[in-house]
Amino acid sequence: MSEYQRAGSAGAGPGAITPDGCAVEMYARMEADGEQHIVAGAMRAGARTILELGAGAGRVTHALLDLGFEVVAVDESPEMLAEIRGARTVRATIEGLDLGERFDAVLLASYLINTAEPAVRAELLRTCRRHVKDDGCVLIQREGAGWNDPANVPREHRRGPLLIRVAAAEPLGAGVTSVRMEYEFEGRRWSQTHTSHELDEAAVEKALAEAGLRLDAHLTDDRTWLRAVPAATG
Ligand SMILES: C[S@@+](CC[C@H](N)C(=O)[O-])C[C@H]1O[C@@H](n2cnc3c(N)ncnc32)[C@H](O)[C@@H]1O
Repeated sequence: MSEYQRAGSAGAGPGAITPDGCAVEMYARMEADGEQHIVAGAMRAGARTILELGAGAGRVTHALLDLGFEVVAVDESPEMLAEIRGARTVRATIEGLDLGERFDAVLLASYLINTAEPAVRAELLRTCRRHVKDDGCVLIQREGAGWNDPANVPREHRRGPLLIRVAAAEPLGAGVTSVRMEYEFEGRRWSQTHTSHELDEAAVEKALAEAGLRLDAHLTDDRTWLRAVPAATG
């Protein structure tokens, strides 16, 4: 068990579990699913440095290193970071992080922007803004529309050897849903519960603007990957 737990989050299954309910053993065995190409395609030519927030066990980090990027990987879970090879790691919460450095790209993936707590979302985006170069970009992955609609649950899909099941979705009001995920991998099972706030376009743009960022482009047809850039000042 981690020493603290994030509100609305819980995880169960073999091995270490992070404060947001993720299973370290499972993430350590998963491979990137093309995220590295979305990131590489969104950065300007010649850009090399990436700050990856919530890097986990390096699933995407390692794929970005293989493409020649320099990555600083941040996570609050020391067990996750212990799995990362070849990148500088920083154990920290994203909220309030200030490394005193700026990067060509800041990556906020894994739907962290969908946190049910607006104050946390604001902090996450402020950290992105603090660490991005003036000509750099912030790359964000958010949940798709209707993903947590109870009408679409349960559902499951396979990613290689991993079975991913959205087992339950319970609306809690004010756009927030408690979601229970189940995973099966190499004969082992994990579950994770987290709360999620669905963000429409206007909500994303408002949250970005409050952090001094502006939406620059959608990077995928399903509009789950976004590129934001520093907003003009003055
Ligand atoms: C769902 S996992 C995804 C890991 C990785 N991005 C991937 O795609 O494989 C989310 C990770 O973010 C970390 N995390 C979540 N919220 C965080 C926060 N506010 N500060 C630091 N780490 C956080 C968790 O510890 C976990 O390792």
